[in-house]
Amino acid sequence: MDALAQTKQGIGIAHGKVILIGEHAVVYNMPAIALPFTAATVSVSIQPCTGESYIDSAYYTGPLASSEQLNHLHQMIQAVCTYLETSADGLYFTIDSSLPAERGVGSSAAVASATLRALCDYFDAELDEASFTHFVSISENMVHGQASGIDTEVIFQQSPIYFTKDQPPETLDLQLSGYLITADTGVTGSTKEAVADIQQLLIDYPTKTLEAIQQLGQLANQAKEVILSGNIKQLGQILSNSHLQLKQLTVSSPELDQLVFTALQAGALGAKLTGSGRGGCMIALAATEAEAQQIADALQQAGATQTWINSLGDSTDDNLY
Ligand code: MEV
Repeated sequence: MDALAQTKQGIGIAHGKVILIGEHAVVYNMPAIALPFTAATVSVSIQPCTGESYIDSAYYTGPLASSEQLNHLHQMIQAVCTYLETSADGLYFTIDSSLPAERGVGSSAAVASATLRALCDYFDAELDEASFTHFVSISENMVHGQASGIDTEVIFQQSPIYFTKDQPPETLDLQLSGYLITADTGVTGSTKEAVADIQQLLIDYPTKTLEAIQQLGQLANQAKEVILSGNIKQLGQILSNSHLQLKQLTVSSPELDQLVFTALQAGALGAKLTGSGRGGCMIALAATEAEAQQIADALQQAGATQTWINSLGDSTDDNLY
């Protein structure tokens, strides 16, 4: 890299997301509630390089165009550079992430968002919200198959949202006295496969599958009501009920079920998988921080590879949003 090249740099940062309720059903126009997950972030930096663009990440290091694994990101970068009327060559991307990938906490949307922000910073460009979500969706649609857009939206937002596909999100004032525990099974799950399998279930077992999807939509609406009335106990029950519906849709896994069971045994008010499932993360609710810690400890003993505890209401530093 020459001296001039070293002066130019672009940086982008993005957080992940936790779906409180409504995953999968949201693909079929049911409402869902999602929270920004700021406990872990993705940071992307761009520096100039000679020749074709290059990417340096924990999952792949090499020429951007040669990565099958990161083809979704490559396609988004191409589209952004075409829009900005600039070359997509000569860019050296470095991705650093503390968000576990393929665990249902929005890593792919966060990587795409951080990359887009880094490109805007590098080329001194500004994008409005519609253009931002358009470009991130290019990547997300390739990763999810049939993405609802919830991950892209919540990663753009700073607050919890009540989301229905193709509608503007509603910001939710989440002021609950309670704690959310997120735990990672350590097992990766493919969103694309899980979404495609539910599509197939709708063909093979339409009545039962549609019923579960509609139930999930109703539970998301009930969750919104109890959040607004501040009833965390009822919210816990609703989350546990939604786990049963997600099981019915075949997107849970033995590891997720085990952690959900462990959390409930350890005193959680409710627990469920979060995100696309088949591995990835689960969430549990606790009334107090001490109880949350007890639940997190039990989850780790039961095999969770990582746990996070976040307040759901006050303005402490570990707040989720
Ligand atoms: C994945 O985070 C959420 C899903 O509902 C897929 C989507 O909405 O795009 C499983």
